[in-house]
Amino acid sequence: MAFQRKISLLAMAIALVSVAPSFAVDAPQADAKKNHAEAPKAWMNKKLTPEQRTDLVLKEMTMDEKLKLVFGYFGTDAPWKNSKRPAESITQSAGFVYGIPRLGIPNLWQADAGIGVASQGGPNVREATALPSGIATAATWDLKTAYQGGAMIGSESRAFGFNVQLAGGVNIMREPRNGRNFEYAGEDPLLAGKIVGAQISGIQSNKIVSTLKHYAFNDQETNRFSLDVKVDDASARMADLLALQIAKEEGNPGSVMCSYNRVNGFYACESNYLLNEVLKQDWGFKGWVMSDWGATHSTVPAANNGLDQQSGIPFDHSEYFGGALKEAVQNGWVTEARLTDMARRVLHPMFEFGLIDNPVTPNPKAINFKANGLVSQKDAEEGMVLLKNDNKLLPLSKAAKKIAVIGSRADVGVLSGGGSSQVYPVGGAAFRGGPEFFPGPMLYYPSSPLKAIQARVPQAKVTYNDGTDAVTAAKLAAESDVVLVFVNQWTAESVDVPNLSLPDNQDTLVAAVAKANAKTVVVLQTGGPVLMPWLSNVGAAVEAWYPGTNGGEAIARVLFGEVNPSGHLPATFPASESQLPRLVVDGYPEVKDARITVTYNEGAAVGYKWFDLKGHTPLFPFGHGLSYTEFALGDLKAQVKDNLITASFTVKNTGETAGKEVAQVYVSPITTTWEAPKRLGGWQKVDLKAGASTKASITIDPRLVGMYDSASKTWKIAEGDYKVILAADATDAKATSVTVHLNAATLDVNGKFVNKSVK
Ligand code: BGC
Repeated sequence: MAFQRKISLLAMAIALVSVAPSFAVDAPQADAKKNHAEAPKAWMNKKLTPEQRTDLVLKEMTMDEKLKLVFGYFGTDAPWKNSKRPAESITQSAGFVYGIPRLGIPNLWQADAGIGVASQGGPNVREATALPSGIATAATWDLKTAYQGGAMIGSESRAFGFNVQLAGGVNIMREPRNGRNFEYAGEDPLLAGKIVGAQISGIQSNKIVSTLKHYAFNDQETNRFSLDVKVDDASARMADLLALQIAKEEGNPGSVMCSYNRVNGFYACESNYLLNEVLKQDWGFKGWVMSDWGATHSTVPAANNGLDQQSGIPFDHSEYFGGALKEAVQNGWVTEARLTDMARRVLHPMFEFGLIDNPVTPNPKAINFKANGLVSQKDAEEGMVLLKNDNKLLPLSKAAKKIAVIGSRADVGVLSGGGSSQVYPVGGAAFRGGPEFFPGPMLYYPSSPLKAIQARVPQAKVTYNDGTDAVTAAKLAAESDVVLVFVNQWTAESVDVPNLSLPDNQDTLVAAVAKANAKTVVVLQTGGPVLMPWLSNVGAAVEAWYPGTNGGEAIARVLFGEVNPSGHLPATFPASESQLPRLVVDGYPEVKDARITVTYNEGAAVGYKWFDLKGHTPLFPFGHGLSYTEFALGDLKAQVKDNLITASFTVKNTGETAGKEVAQVYVSPITTTWEAPKRLGGWQKVDLKAGASTKASITIDPRLVGMYDSASKTWKIAEGDYKVILAADATDAKATSVTVHLNAATLDVNGKFVNKSVK
């Protein structure tokens, strides 16, 4: 394969070529020979701690070498900027940073992103395994699945020759029309943080680094390069930042990517508040902060306010961390100590996570795509959400003689989301459409739902209609025993959707089909929540998200009951846009470079919290997900020990098939108030045979029962009564609750008790 040839040539090039970034004034190689050629590499001693090793190597480094580590290139030619990627970078990749060969410090090869090893559009794209979208993985509510998916894509990353994966997107869903929601993990800080943290751990288990992003408040794509988010510290810490904080705690990422937007007047990549104060000081982050591609805007403010590495030259206007940074250090505007700190932050995770001891050697031939496809499929199956199922229309009966499959190119494949995270499928796309250039193309992966359906009912007549004409589709529906209508919404980086309606008249299609045949099942492939004006007229609906490499197979297995659906919504599906904090996305439709302000008046009341606060009834609540069996949640008890709440309960499978339930525990203040009536305190996903029951228990993170106090940088738990609620979703009519009493207590910024009076 041409691509494999390219990789081996690349490996040779890496071995042979000595490197020198464009700005370096001293020739590092000559310098090296002069001073350090014979220096023993004490830092290569694996018995030393990462700190000790970092200190040792830093002592050997010249200023130019430190500067090399903080300066990153785009790994793809950018003809529109007249720029070529460094020869040592990997084709169509996101990024590249020169290492220090004489000291045994490897280059950094950076690949996007969260669903697999992505490629920038153009020639020689990599073909890799794609997980379902990030929101689909969040819908599994299963940390093991998230970890295994991360481990799988991380292994491909390493095999392709990358040692930094730009995965770990956890911008919480404040805006359901955000074009990148598919990359993230929904609206709740606990769920999103835990899922993304597990994914990061999985990726880093391959001895590579993963990247928590986009730090922070890049919650809409409209004017993402220029908008200014106004948010108060306490709301931020209890919502967006809490998701990032939890993901950081769980995943321990080696790097963090600061985002494009401004926050309270400052660019995120030069925000002292975000970078120095919250991330490094409060959370104790030891790794490096890299800028998003084109998100660096200065030299001195950026370096002094906490940015450690400029990424993706030539995306920024200037080489701020090139010659300009050297001059700033020489003139004292940025101290040498700070430059050393920047280099230290890049090096420490390289030692800590094994990049130095286990250098990457590209070997894409070793990838077992079949096995990896199954990892992706399991994730997709676990995350599909059965939204509605009247009269047990699903699972499909194998006795059906005539099945109609309509719409969404279900004859050939499944949809994927667009932009820098785009993974190109093994064997080539089943269909390529959308914009020719970024954030296009729009790709369908070659996993045909139609074929997977037909394979399960060989005796039935399965007929496909492309859905472009509602009249012929309805005619086919009328003649069929059961109808499977596929609808989709392509979303992509850099563009928000105008509203939550399905595009291209698909609502008309579904309405016409459902009118012709009530036994209509709708299969949705969307980036996030959409409206469903036809819902009451269809028999069943399944949210399949963007289901990844084996998506067609996963969909068929769920439809036929080979897999009992167990996904639950990680985000509220509104009944209309009027229920949202904003009627339209601020600034939409985008006026290029407009410096708009987006004010988070909703504070920390994001998603279901906002709906609770306002008393809105959603189309589907957060946490919703049906099964082919039924469950009963009961015996709720809550104990308080050392001011920590532990809820215990039983889950029983009262139906006739094995299945998995996501039991959710919410907390609600009775004698005090929060930003909203309740918060998710924890959950447990249990797998139960028909008739079986199990006991489960959840200890609630004390931050989730406190309010963040900015002045003291602590979380305050108010003395009083709290309701502990056991529910199957955020608006469950069958929810039960018990009351507990908490003493007043103070937690430090990371949620550790500072003092408490124990009852
Ligand atoms: C995206 C990042 C991505 C980077 C490199 C940016 O446009 O916002 O998520 O990692 O490009 O491709």
